[in-house]
Formats: sequence, structure tokens, C-alpha cells
Amino acid sequence: MTAKPVTKPLLATVLGARQDRLPIWIMRQAGRYLPEYRELRAKAGSFLDLCYNPEMAAEVTLQPLRRFDLDAAILFSDILVIPDALGQSVRFEAGEGPLLEPITADTLSLAHPQQALEKLAPVIETVRRVRAALAPEKTLIGFSGSPWTVATYMIGGRGSPDQHAARMFALTQPEAFARLLDILVEASIAYLVAQLRAGADVVQLFESWALNIDEVAFRDWVIAPNRRIVEGVRELVPGAPIIGFPRGAAGNLPAYAAATGVNVLGLDYGTPLAVADQLPHTLGVQGNLDPLRLLAGGEQMDRRVREIVTGFQNRPHIFNLGHGILPETPIAHVERLIAVAREL
Ligand code: CP3
Repeated sequence: MTAKPVTKPLLATVLGARQDRLPIWIMRQAGRYLPEYRELRAKAGSFLDLCYNPEMAAEVTLQPLRRFDLDAAILFSDILVIPDALGQSVRFEAGEGPLLEPITADTLSLAHPQQALEKLAPVIETVRRVRAALAPEKTLIGFSGSPWTVATYMIGGRGSPDQHAARMFALTQPEAFARLLDILVEASIAYLVAQLRAGADVVQLFESWALNIDEVAFRDWVIAPNRRIVEGVRELVPGAPIIGFPRGAAGNLPAYAAATGVNVLGLDYGTPLAVADQLPHTLGVQGNLDPLRLLAGGEQMDRRVREIVTGFQNRPHIFNLGHGILPETPIAHVERLIAVAREL
């Protein structure tokens, strides 16, 4: 007799089948709101040292699952390891966020997407270690930043409220910008394929800055590269399950879903639940509680969690926040969130 294969409720939902158990994970679930993360982080050296240390990164990846009844682990890394691996100077300053040496049309020519993968070998080793340690019913999520979002940091050198520098670069140096997107598409495909081959069940594309751009830019800078990544990954890993999270896409969401071919659409918290009615019935959705509601907690949180669970009950749904958890979030609020989401 062979043992019955164990179902992974989150993976099964990504593949389009609603489950008895509502799958839950939390964006940025491994991070500063956890005392055990802060403790390990203090010993790790720089943030990038932690990302490139497979033993520590695997431990951090598993920390939230030891505490909470979650359905997935997400690889501990960052979207900015790609620019780092391409040879750009990337630093993380406490309280400042990421700081990069802004790329120019000249320095761009030094980037070699295939060589970047060698530098990312420790991250792939982290995937292997987490897979080996993870319970069989838990899904392992890998990820990459989407090209436009990563490009905004590479060009601007830091986070910015409106991506002014990246948008000006794209509009005034279209050839260099197209080359940059090509490099990022190629590197992301290789990186995601390596994660899937090392044991990731699903990968998520973080397009965190899909806002503030017009529909033409959205088509060329967001939809086109994300679509090339989905196709390129599936050429090498047929049927690869992919979640796309175009934060702020608003009215561009239906076009993004149709053109990219992702299995699941991540919804930010600004997206009304009724927007899902404009999406194909078989398409899964992920989201979308405002992280501030989780931080505030109490009755308002419970009520909104129930609205979200009910609002998406007729389609594949993965419960999540609509953006990353805030570092000051109390642990008890996270426990309450999971209990309320599961009670229906
Ligand atoms: O738990 C997880 O979600 C896995 C790990 C993960 C991190 N970053 C760890 C991290 C993931 C999936 C990311 C994605 C990421 N990184 C995004 C896309 C998601 C989003 O939030 O929009 C972006 C834009 C980044 C870039 C980035 N990394 C920024 C802007 C910052 C600084 C802001 C901040 O929160 O401090 C980071 C640093 C970072 N990445 C931290 C963590 C846990 C905090 C740094 C630390 O612990 O010292």
C-alpha cells in the first residue's frame, strides 16, 4: 500500500480548487513584529548577510509557522537581492530602508543576468532546507520582485512615493529602460525556476509599485514583463503555480489577470471586494485586509475579516493582508485574525 498523498490546502487553492480549510498566510510574516526574528536579526550582521545565510534564513522562514496556524512558509529573502546579484551596490540602513547606488545607462551594461544566479545560490539552498524541514501539508512560497518594481529601486536608489526618477528614466531613455526590463525578466525567470526546482510549490511576483502609472505604462512596464516571466517560467517548469500581486493596479486588474496568466491575483486593501465580480470565476484571489486594521485590532478587525471571507466565498480564496504586516503589530492580534478567518 502506498500512503495517500498529503494535500496542501494553499497549493490546491492556487490551482483552482476551494478547500474545506481556508488557507492563510501573511505578507511579511517573517519579520520584526516577532521577538524571535529580532533576536536572530541582531546576531546576523547586515540584512543582506541574513538573506545569504541559509541556516539563519531557513530558521527565520519557519519562525511564524511555529507560532501560528498558517498554511504556508514564504522564503526569507528580499526583492532587492536581484540588483545586488547583478552587481549594483545595495545596502539596508535601519530606519531608512534600502539604499542603492542609482543605475545609469552606462553601469547597466555591466549586469549579467545568468551570472547573477551564482550569487543567489545561498538563497536557493535556503529553499532546499525549508522544504526538508516543512510539514508536508504546508506550502512553500518562493518569490521575486517584478521588473518594474525592482527597476524603481535600481533607478531611484531608494523607495519613493511616486517613482518620479524611474518614470522619467523610462520616458526619456526608453532603450536603456527596455534593456533593464529585459535583464530583470531574464534574471527573474532563472531565479524563480531555481526556487521551484529546489522545492518551492508556488511563486509570487511582487509588483509593489503598480500604482501612479498610466494605462500605457501599465501595459508596457507591468503587464508585458510579468507575462514574459510567467511564460518563461512555465516553459521550464510546466504548469508552475504563480500568484501575481500588482499593488495599486485598481482599474488595470482585469487586464493584468487576463494577460499575465497568473493562477491567483493578490489584491491590495484598496480593492473593493466587488471588483472580483469583474474577474473570471475560476481565478483565485488573495487578500486583502488592511494591515492597519490588524494593528488596531478589536471588533472593527473581526468585522472586516468576516466581510472578506464571505465576500470571496464563491471562488478560490487565500486569506492574507492587502500589504505587509507592520512591525509594531501585537502577536495576539495575529492569533485573533487567524481564529476569526477560520471560524466561518
Ligand atoms: O516574510 C516575508 O514576507 C518574506 C521576506 C520578504 C522581505 N521582503 C523581508 C524583509 C519579502 C517577501 C520582501 C519583499 C519586499 N521587499 C518588497 C515587496 C513587498 C512589499 O512590501 O511591497 C519590497 C518593496 C521590498 C524592499 C524592501 N525590503 C524595503 C522597502 C525594505 C525596508 C522597509 C522595511 O520594512 O524595513 C526592506 C527590508 C526588509 N525586507 C525587512 C524584511 C524583514 C526589514 C529589514 C530588517 O529586518 O532589518
